[in-house]
Parts: sequence; structure tokens; C-alpha cells
Amino acid sequence: MEYVRNPMKLQESIVETIGSTPLVKLKKVISGSTATVAVKLEYFNPGGSIKDRAALAMIDAAENDGLLRPGGTIVEASSGNTGYAIAMLGAVRDYSVVIVCTDKVSHEKIETLKAFGANVVRVPFDAPLNSPEHYLNTAKRIVKESDNAIFANQSFNPANPKAHYLTTGPEIWEQTDRKITTFVCSAGTGGTISGAGKYLKERNGDIEVVLADPVGSIYKTYFETGKIDEAFPYLVEAAGQNEPFIPDAFDRGVVDRVVLVNDEESFLMARRLAREEGIFCGISSGMIVSAAVRVAQEKTKEDLIVAVVPDAGDKYLSRLYSDDWLRQNLPSMESHLTSGDSNAGSADPEAKS
Ligand SMILES: Cc1ncc(COP(=O)(O)O)c(C=O)c1O
Repeated sequence: MEYVRNPMKLQESIVETIGSTPLVKLKKVISGSTATVAVKLEYFNPGGSIKDRAALAMIDAAENDGLLRPGGTIVEASSGNTGYAIAMLGAVRDYSVVIVCTDKVSHEKIETLKAFGANVVRVPFDAPLNSPEHYLNTAKRIVKESDNAIFANQSFNPANPKAHYLTTGPEIWEQTDRKITTFVCSAGTGGTISGAGKYLKERNGDIEVVLADPVGSIYKTYFETGKIDEAFPYLVEAAGQNEPFIPDAFDRGVVDRVVLVNDEESFLMARRLAREEGIFCGISSGMIVSAAVRVAQEKTKEDLIVAVVPDAGDKYLSRLYSDDWLRQNLPSMESHLTSGDSNAGSADPEAKS
């Protein structure tokens, strides 16, 4: 996969517009830090998120390995961004796409997947990991019952972290003129932090890799003890791990430390990014930037901190950007809410996107 593209060139297809996303300095939300904090804006990808990179790499790998042949089917378990990315790429390359998601996924997300021509299979949100109805087991069953079908399986697919080793990491290295000192990222599958973090550390072993993790996720305990703890519910979506397993895509060895961020900090920072920096992002972006700003307080003006912004705010209008929803679901935000609106949506505590 090529990682340097020229956005001003005539592109062969939408696929060639994946990657080479902008890196932008933050000015107002950095709490007086003298360090530079910059955000890698992954919502510039055509599918709207960082997951375009992993999806493309997983499909390319399956094609190259002869596992996915023309006319085949790609199956994935996803509540959002990976589903969008695979559905988009399936449309371009004429594959059927089946996305398995839980019945908590919003109407808008389902309709977006269908807009790309994907088939959507919904399973109960509360099906445990050992149930045949769990979304991972359902995806595996569909693959077994179909011809010429693959399970993309982002959490256990080495092409996922490799995509970030080959693209996200090198882009950041070049965009910072090789001066990055700290990389801050979340882990859902762990693909981004593991791949980009590994690349950056190979270039300069002094670069600190910081995992921003939601309070309630199991990654912090796993990082510190190697043990899988019980997760607690949190409202940040698509980041952290709330199921009792660690994805193979997560490489604990790349991480130097974990910074825990709670829901309120995450939501507040995401909203500030929109209002103060013009960066309309999702909830995990708020969490990651919150951690980056906290880390920046310890740093000097020589430091250059890069934080990942995985996706944009449009998928979260009915939650993150709804004052009514926040009043109901995160009452501690009340003092930060200015307007009353009637756009309250329903909770969507989805796991991996
Ligand atoms: C919005 C958002 N944030 C963070 C992540 C975590 O990225 P990764 O799976 O590479 O760890 C994802 C992954 O789906 C995501 O969609």
C-alpha cells in the first residue's frame, strides 16, 4: 500500500484518497501549555474515519493471499467506522458486504451502511461472548455458511496494525519533520496505537507512546498487570475495551503509559474542539485530546505531541452534541450546557466501531 499520495492529482477511485490526512496545531484548548499539541485529522478519510486505512489493508491482504476472490463477500462485526469503511470499499471493488451489529446501533448508522449497499444483520446487544448470537460468533457463522467469504475480524487481523505501521506512522513522522516527541492515541482494537506507535519508536526510541483509555475500559489494568479485569460501562464510543478479551491487534509493548479519561472530560473536550478550534469530532477524539492536553502540562516548549482524532462529530449529533441527551445521561455536564434543545437521542453504548 502506498502511503504518500498527492491529493491534487486526478485519482483513480475513492480508494486512492485514503490516508495523507492533515496534521493541525491546537491553539485554544491546550490550557497554557508551552508544548505544541497537534491533531491528526482522520475524518478527512473518504469513509469519515481512521478505519478506512485498516479496512483497505485487510481487504488488500485477503485479495493478495487468495482468500477473497472476485464476487466474494466481506463480513465484519462493527457498529460504525469499520463497517462504513468496508461497505465503501466493497462498493468500489464489487464485493458483497455483510455488517453484523447489535440492536443498539442507531438508525442513522444502519441507513449509512445500506447507502453503500451493505447488508446489515442485527443481533442482541446483551448477547454474551459465549453466545452464538454474540456479534463476533454471528459474523463467523455467516462466513462459514457462505462461499468465497472472509471475516475481516479487525481485532485479530495483523493487516490492521500493519496499515498504521505503513501509513499513519510514516505520515506523522514526515509531517512533524521527524520532531514528534509524544504520540497519544486510544485503543479500540489497538491497531492504530500498535502500528503507528511501533513505526515511530523504531525511528526514534525516545518517542513516548501514551494510551488514552476511558475510565471503565480494561486496557489500563492489562497494561499494568497483564490481567484481564472486569470492565465498567462508559459512554465514550469505539475506544477502550469492554469485553473480556484483549485483541491481537493490541501490542502492549509499544505503550509507555496509560492516561485514564472519564466521560465528562471526553465529552467536554470534544465539544470544545468544535466550538474553539473548529474541529468537529467524535467522542473518542475528545478523550484522546484530553489526555494529550494533560500530558502537555508536564512538557516543555521543545515537545511536539501528536494526538489522533479518529472521526468526525456527525455520527454523534444525537448524543455528544445534544444538550438534552447529556442532561439525561451525563448530568455532571449541566454547568457546561448553554442551550436547551430537543434533539435527545437514545444511548448507543456500542463496543468496537
Ligand atoms: C471513533 C474511533 N475511535 C477510536 C478507535 C480505535 O482505533 P483502533 O481500533 O485502531 O484502536 C476507533 C476504532 O474503530 C474508532 O472508530
